[in-house]
Amino acid sequence: MKTEMIKVAAENFDKSLGKAAELIRAGKVVGMPTETVYGLAADACSDSAVKAIFVAKGRPQDNPLIVHICDYVMMTEIVERVTDAAKELGRAFWPGPLTIVLPKSPLICGTVTCGLDTVAVRMPSHPVAAELIRRSGVPLAAPSANISGKPSTTTAQHVLDDMDGKISLILDGGACEIGIESTVVSLTGDKPLILRPGIISLGDVRRVLPNAEMSPHAMHMLADGERAESPGMKHTHYSPNAQVTIVDGTLAQFNEYTKSKRCNGAFAMCFDGEQDEIDMPSVSYGEKADVHSQARRLFATLRALDKMDASYVYARAPSSDDAAAGVLNRLIRAAGFTLIKL
Ligand code: TXA
Ligand code: MG
Repeated sequence: MKTEMIKVAAENFDKSLGKAAELIRAGKVVGMPTETVYGLAADACSDSAVKAIFVAKGRPQDNPLIVHICDYVMMTEIVERVTDAAKELGRAFWPGPLTIVLPKSPLICGTVTCGLDTVAVRMPSHPVAAELIRRSGVPLAAPSANISGKPSTTTAQHVLDDMDGKISLILDGGACEIGIESTVVSLTGDKPLILRPGIISLGDVRRVLPNAEMSPHAMHMLADGERAESPGMKHTHYSPNAQVTIVDGTLAQFNEYTKSKRCNGAFAMCFDGEQDEIDMPSVSYGEKADVHSQARRLFATLRALDKMDASYVYARAPSSDDAAAGVLNRLIRAAGFTLIKL
């Protein structure tokens, strides 16, 4: 299959979106930009279209997909009931980087939810994603557009790197503004539970739903026999080829620790302005005090390290504040939960 990439601009907006929507209606998979990361979109009501997503990504059969909607009419069709808590979250954060898990309606095929009786729903704010849903006329199932287990894709080129020959079209909407995936909040238990932190933090969610909690599994490895609230928690994620170690301490402590680690293929992943002070080839992934810049550049940095043939990566730790939980959650998984506290 030949993969076409179209740069979406004002002049070709109508034509490119028309073409993408036609492919979706024909049961095909399209790479689409969202404000968080790029997604691999297909008709969430078509079993065969959704299966094609799983094949393109090499995704495990037990990890359900997020369903993307463009308005509340679509929402009422795919969930059993739009609860008050869901309405309040939607009012505060939609369209935007938040996903809500609710009991599902029969319209959503079992392939999307991997047989669960709940569905994850998100209303993205990116104009290309919103318009693609509207023109397709169906909710779109879309996981992140990376090969399963690899760092997520935040540019159309990343999508092409992973999906060339596997999907027919990628819409290039530029680099993603947020850079890490949506915050996933489950409203199916006693209390609202954050299953995956994102740029919307626990504090942000609590301003709307004060009894919300962070899943204890968001930052820790599942113990043997422990059950995940979200199937995605148990799979390997965001891993570059290199072995990543997070080193939590001051820059001086980081330098002391990495002194004995210098070798061919060893790289530091640091903050802006630190490169001159580190005695190892290094790549910066954001400003130390700005979690938004870290989120925006994290996956691109992990991908760049792969291209540089890094074998070992020592990463400066993001802050442990609630606001940085999304960045830490991704990095700690990329590191296979290897964090050295100095
Ligand atoms: O920002 C995002 O959310 C991006 C863009 C493309 O919208 N999508 C994304 O999808 O990150 P994906 O497939 O990479 O991650 C979906 C996560 C997984 O951790 C999955 O286990 C969880 O959502 N999930 C999906 N349906 C669920 C459900 N019914 N119950 C619990 N967790 C669910
Ligand atoms: Mg993903």
